[in-house]
Amino acid sequence: GADVEVDISGIQPGQLIRVMWRSKPVWIVRRTPATLEALATHEDKLKDPNSEAEQQPGFAQNRYRSLKEEYLILVGICTHLGCSPQHLKDGAFEEIVEGVPDGFFCPCHGSKFDMAGRVFENVPAPLNLVVPPYQFVDDNTVIIG
Ligand code: FES
Repeated sequence: GADVEVDISGIQPGQLIRVMWRSKPVWIVRRTPATLEALATHEDKLKDPNSEAEQQPGFAQNRYRSLKEEYLILVGICTHLGCSPQHLKDGAFEEIVEGVPDGFFCPCHGSKFDMAGRVFENVPAPLNLVVPPYQFVDDNTVIIG
């Protein structure tokens, strides 16, 4: 079928892998404890911290936007005009948003998203990055779709 099964056992802390699902890029990121802690530090700078504006899985309507806190799964397409945002980490994102060590930056028109895919204020993207439907079949295997 159109669903994609992914073995996530080899993803290292901080690493992002890409898979294709229904002709769309999907990212799977293994978030570190530091990345998860940082999600709480900038919610006053986000357009929609609880993802209330979107039709997305109910489990995405919170700070972590994931079934398991450690694994962030997103459609890797900017919600402005569809470019592919870059994953900036190890402090590189901090040059764009002070005090936030990692996140996603869209080079087309400068939209910024945190490590839950939540969009920052004062950028053209209107919505948080999309969380696709998915489920874990065991600790190492996720099915997108
Ligand atoms: Fe990403 Fe415009 S397409 S900011």
